[in-house]
Amino acid sequence: MAFPLFSKNKKALLDRCRDDYATKMRLKYAPFYHAIEEQKGTSIRLNGRDMVMLSSNDYLGFSFHPKVIEAGRAAMLKWGTSTTGARTSNGSRAYHVELEQKLATFLGREACHVHAAGYLSCLSSVASFAQKGDVILADKNIHSCLWDGIRLSMATVERFSHNNPVDLREVAASVESRAPKMLIIEGVYSMEGHIARLPDMMAVADEYGCFTVLDDAHGFGVLGRQGRGTVDHFGLNDKVDVVCGSLSKSLASTGGFVAASREVIEYLRTNSKQTIFSAALSPGQAACAQTSLELMQTEPEHLDRLWKNTKRYREMLKGLGLDTWGSETPAVPIVLGSKEVVYRFWQALMEKGVFTVMSIAPAVPPGKDLIRTAISAMHTEEQLERIAEAMAYAVKKI
Ligand SMILES: Cc1ncc(COP(=O)(O)O)c(C=O)c1O
Repeated sequence: MAFPLFSKNKKALLDRCRDDYATKMRLKYAPFYHAIEEQKGTSIRLNGRDMVMLSSNDYLGFSFHPKVIEAGRAAMLKWGTSTTGARTSNGSRAYHVELEQKLATFLGREACHVHAAGYLSCLSSVASFAQKGDVILADKNIHSCLWDGIRLSMATVERFSHNNPVDLREVAASVESRAPKMLIIEGVYSMEGHIARLPDMMAVADEYGCFTVLDDAHGFGVLGRQGRGTVDHFGLNDKVDVVCGSLSKSLASTGGFVAASREVIEYLRTNSKQTIFSAALSPGQAACAQTSLELMQTEPEHLDRLWKNTKRYREMLKGLGLDTWGSETPAVPIVLGSKEVVYRFWQALMEKGVFTVMSIAPAVPPGKDLIRTAISAMHTEEQLERIAEAMAYAVKKI
């Protein structure tokens, strides 16, 4: 048995945790992990102060809709709190099948599969289909869950410059022509607020025989008829093979979905480790998502208000000379270029009662350090006024 004196300090991984620079900086400046004490829609209470939430992805504002809350409550009374098992074993319920059918119909797809997180759905949309020997063509700005899916797939990956079909074509032409190919893009890029240049991208995908996966976490509920998403916005439903997304944004729940043809979804159900080895979506979350989906089709005023608020907000930022990276959607970054300026701007907004989130390199490209903001249909006139005052104040502080 090792003498305790010699085994002391031998755990290199414990040293790594203790000495990590990023963790030390996070704890010193405390920009993340703020535990909100109270919330009512876009009004929150933090450190005893009333603030406006300007960084939530509750685009349609359904998280406090009485019908959504009631549906979650009723589902828990009927089904209990959790499935406590994977879909393949004891975790499958009639409400999963119902939600999947409703999502598939809404998206004009044959089938759909839901997971307990959007992260799992999107990761699974890549890792279940691509394998060693395949070539993945990936927009360099895709979400972390898609990169994780790429890593798990063991396929070869080639990046192309963000939202650039010309570069995509060049990269597609340069890879082994016989290898099976997958194209991965987002419908709306969450960090930048850009809409995918889908018609041009799909022309390349068609030419090179790419199986296309589109993550529409931020396009679903926001673009297209009744919020059917980016593919519907461009009328290209027959071109994209897999649409994945999150239930945690416009659908005001937590969880994720993958929608595709029946044969593609059945293949995923056989091969997705994220499906086979992870507990199924809980009853309350499924019910909240399903009711939000119904509201998208019966109460169009939320989508109208989202875009009205977005237009007003963008004009406000433009008037102050702020760089919004050409955002075209309610996800609006404020690019400030360095982490020091971002920190000062963020602090000034906090001081004035507006809650936002910082994003600094390496999470964003160098020189693109930014504040992440997102507009909701729930933001009121008074809140938009308060945001305008806070932005003007923050601009003076940098
Ligand atoms: C583009 C994109 N895909 C997937 C996800 C993961 O979704 P969830 O938060 O539901 O796990 C997110 C969430 O931030 C996202 O922005």
